[in-house]
Amino acid sequence: MLEEWLAPKAAALESRGLTRRLRPRPADEVLIDLAGNDYLGLARDPRVVEAVVDAVREWGAGATASRLVTGTTTLHAELESSLAEYTGHSSGLVFSSGYLANLGVVTALGGPGTLLISDDHVHASLVDACRLSRSRVEVVPHNDVDAVTKALAERNEPHAIVLVESVYSVLGDAAPLEALAAAALKHDAVLLVDEAHGLGVTGGGRGSVAAAGLAGLDHVIVTMTLSKSLASQGGVVLGPVLLREHLINRARPFIFDTGLTPASCAAALAALRILAEEPLRPDAIHTTAARLASVCGVAPSAGAVVSVPMPGPREAVHAAELCLANGVRVGSFRPPSVPDGISRLRLTARAGLSTTDLDRACEVITTAIREVS
Ligand SMILES: Cc1ncc(COP(=O)(O)O)c(C=O)c1O
Repeated sequence: MLEEWLAPKAAALESRGLTRRLRPRPADEVLIDLAGNDYLGLARDPRVVEAVVDAVREWGAGATASRLVTGTTTLHAELESSLAEYTGHSSGLVFSSGYLANLGVVTALGGPGTLLISDDHVHASLVDACRLSRSRVEVVPHNDVDAVTKALAERNEPHAIVLVESVYSVLGDAAPLEALAAAALKHDAVLLVDEAHGLGVTGGGRGSVAAAGLAGLDHVIVTMTLSKSLASQGGVVLGPVLLREHLINRARPFIFDTGLTPASCAAALAALRILAEEPLRPDAIHTTAARLASVCGVAPSAGAVVSVPMPGPREAVHAAELCLANGVRVGSFRPPSVPDGISRLRLTARAGLSTTDLDRACEVITTAIREVS
């Protein structure tokens, strides 16, 4: 039964060059990694690893239940207050992933009386959050403040939320946060900024919202994942204390999900401490990103993501395979991760990459790009 159902779908994907395959990587793989999101190079930092081991010994393997039952530990509380303090917000609430943090906050604030105005390029987790929220949704062209303002001004709903990313996960460009926050304030709306690619990277590590002086404002909400710069797992919603209380009571992905593991809390806390103690760490990301953008002939990135357009999905996959065959892992993005027509290579800059590795990566990537163009 499933054979007749799924085989034609698989064949259709294959014919368009869109089939995805899992490639389990061994722990001792020797590759230059420009595909992962370990921007600060902390995933294997001994201080982070030790913190995880200590947390497992102290707390055990799992959180044991939902945050509202036994799944909130003192580690969760410490992580939430540390994240809020570091980024300049009044409070934080940790979820078991960044995806669920986005689902949680948007669905808890959404509904028939709330218009959601979503940038065309937001992450799938925000797209899915819009779908689940039962709100009216207006998708506006990328980084178009006028379109956002028009949608805000013409709405009938009493509430509205503007959904953007501070640094876009695939394009690597920045949102015009000051203008968006001003438009939201003028029209009595909330600005929700996903800082998945801003934390640890922009604003000296504190993110773009802090850098723009918007952290802690009553109409600004931030979500972050703990799985990129903080080298762990989990997500957080940052904002006013009243928002945190609302989410504890209303956000279904918070209420009905087992709490983030204590080990993940400990890893994120350890990484956050390192980031706070080593404020120059993010600089290395920008230096590497600038070099990658320059050799690939693309615009400089606002963060760690260097986005290189490819002629099509097959070329994107082929270029990534050529890189892999030469010891360099890069990401290849094609539909549905990006809209049709903008397949691309996604290179991620990382602190701690040696000059030799970066030189080699630049050589391999530019050769692959030439070969498929
Ligand atoms: C912009 C953005 N938001 C949210 C997420 C989801 O975060 P997580 O992987 O923690 O679920 C990601 C991760 O891929 C992302 O890039």
